[in-house]
Amino acid sequence: MFEAIDHIGIAVADLEAAIHLHTKTYGLPLVHREVVEEQGVEAVLLDIGESHIELLSPLGPDTPVGKFLEKKGPGLHHVAYRVDDVAAELVRLKTEGVRLIDETPRVGIRGSSVAFLHPAGSGSVLTELVTPAEGH
Ligand code: CO
Repeated sequence: MFEAIDHIGIAVADLEAAIHLHTKTYGLPLVHREVVEEQGVEAVLLDIGESHIELLSPLGPDTPVGKFLEKKGPGLHHVAYRVDDVAAELVRLKTEGVRLIDETPRVGIRGSSVAFLHPAGSGSVLTELVTPAEGH
């Protein structure tokens, strides 16, 4: 079952400007910054209560986030729910007929285990499942 909102993913065209807005104007602490080559992004995590904001800056135009920016411009990109066991949830959701992007979990930001559900089966919302790494 889904336990909490782990983070909201936001696609940004200007990462430094977005960091400035979220840290200086909104006052959120920047807690992690990482280039995730596999996903074609530089990602920044900011703490907000028990959850995070994840800023996503594409490494190039041919990456998923690069294509998203081209098509829709900067803005809300995905919602990520925290779950106890991503692999088990994928099996359960598949049984429920939910369309998956990832059939098996992959490594996400900060060593987390993640998988994406297809927006076509999730109310047009790109949806991510996350099990944070130990200690996060
Ligand atoms: Co995410």
